[in-house]
Amino acid sequence: MDAKEIMIELTREKNQEFTVEFVSKEDPRIGEYRLGLEKVFHGEYLKCLYVPLIPGRSQAALLMGCGEFSQLGLVEIRELAAAASKEMKSYGIWEGTLDLTPFVGHMGKRALAQVVLGLRLGTYEYQKVGHEAKEDEAAGDGRESAEDHGTKEVRYRLYGFDGAGDREVLLEALELAEDIRFVRDLVNCPGNLLRPQELGRAIAQYMEGTAVETELMEYEQLKKLGLEGLCGVGGSSQFSPCLAVLRYRGNPGMEETYGLIGKGVTCDTGGYCLKGAKSMAGIKGDMAGAAAVAGALHGAAMQKLKVNITAVLPLCENRISPSSHLPGDVITIFGGRTVEILNTDAEGRLILADAVSYAVGEEKVTRVVDIATLTGAVWQALGYTVAGSMSDHEEFYGMFEEGLASSGERYLRFPYGKEHEKLLESPVAELKNIGGDCCGVITAGLFIRHFAAGLPWIHLDIAGTAWNDTPTYAFESKGATGAGVLSLYYLMKEAEKS
Ligand code: BES
Ligand code: ZN
Ligand code: ZN
Repeated sequence: MDAKEIMIELTREKNQEFTVEFVSKEDPRIGEYRLGLEKVFHGEYLKCLYVPLIPGRSQAALLMGCGEFSQLGLVEIRELAAAASKEMKSYGIWEGTLDLTPFVGHMGKRALAQVVLGLRLGTYEYQKVGHEAKEDEAAGDGRESAEDHGTKEVRYRLYGFDGAGDREVLLEALELAEDIRFVRDLVNCPGNLLRPQELGRAIAQYMEGTAVETELMEYEQLKKLGLEGLCGVGGSSQFSPCLAVLRYRGNPGMEETYGLIGKGVTCDTGGYCLKGAKSMAGIKGDMAGAAAVAGALHGAAMQKLKVNITAVLPLCENRISPSSHLPGDVITIFGGRTVEILNTDAEGRLILADAVSYAVGEEKVTRVVDIATLTGAVWQALGYTVAGSMSDHEEFYGMFEEGLASSGERYLRFPYGKEHEKLLESPVAELKNIGGDCCGVITAGLFIRHFAAGLPWIHLDIAGTAWNDTPTYAFESKGATGAGVLSLYYLMKEAEKS
């Protein structure tokens, strides 16, 4: 049993000191407790009540209101578990049993996965730089100060599930929760502490012990190969760019190899088309696409999914230097297509163009998924909870949508047509790197599609969902969300079936 497993276990007995009870609005127990609870607690969604002692039951309990069970979907169950974990942590309750019986009839095993995700993500905190774990000290009000126990983990025993296969579901969800936590750590990490090569090494290190084979290609090699998008953008910094190529062969007999391409800009100043001070706030998170690919690939390898995946991650900074791109420059992407750069802040598509071309041309992937914090336009259109997507292949996109049913993430698929293609025409090169004043999400996606050589393609723009300063759900925390990990993982799980 490894450390992760010890944090969450399945149990048949409930005789522990502290329990979390999920209570619906109609739960007769509210009245049965005879403590006058019905006056203050009605089981509303996310309302919770700490009850020090319930006669004849556990010694102390946290009642977590669920509203009506029939209204609960994946995200709600994940959120209820996350809220419970946060409450426990804030009270300094480090062990407890969760009674999941109420969810069993409603959702079966899928609820178990959501509960595990919620518990592990609800209490996620990014370790502040220089922070050292202190002994836990109770504050005057019984709650511990948040700072004191960033590193201490709550242990949960899950009660109410014991059928065959539950252990597998539990372990899969635990694995994915840890992968999301890893992704959040990377994305939250300050840019000066995670340069492109360090990001590459961190990802390579994370893959150690799995069947993933890692290659980190250096700047000099990339220049020789002619990746002018990645080398041009990344050459703007004293911290050199690199390309991480990660190969996982879970089913060598299978024809398909899925190319997962993630944008890894560890800091995006905009280059000479410099961002304003306000837009500069979240620039360290511009590598969330690459991080999400790493998280999902690790999950796939740990779960030994029977699929073949090649991840290609272009990692770089986008800065101002004497050698930076200037508007009007024309570069040649790997494979020979030329691009006129009209805005140096539209750097993501340049490095993704190289990476997609490389994945198709050299790594021989047969299907392409790109994922990136690509446009402010997607955030303006959809905000923090829905990401943008595009695809040119119905069957492939259908698989993606099937996977979404398990991931709980939401995407809106953008349409495109010849009129959008026109917006990318350049008088001096094959393409320009920005469109017109409108359709920013679509032109960014279509730009990348040009490099996928007609292979089935899915594009995911997570610029709005990867980062949230005011979390929407209890399973999020300020900053990085880990967006994309579950969607990519469950897409690979669908791919296993095909
Ligand atoms: N990384 C940004 C997109 C972004 C914006 C991510 C806000 C997260 C939050 C990207 O490189 C960028 O700057 N895109 C430009 C494109 C434009 C110049 C066509 C944008 O969206 O403004
Ligand atoms: Zn940019
Ligand atoms: Zn960017």
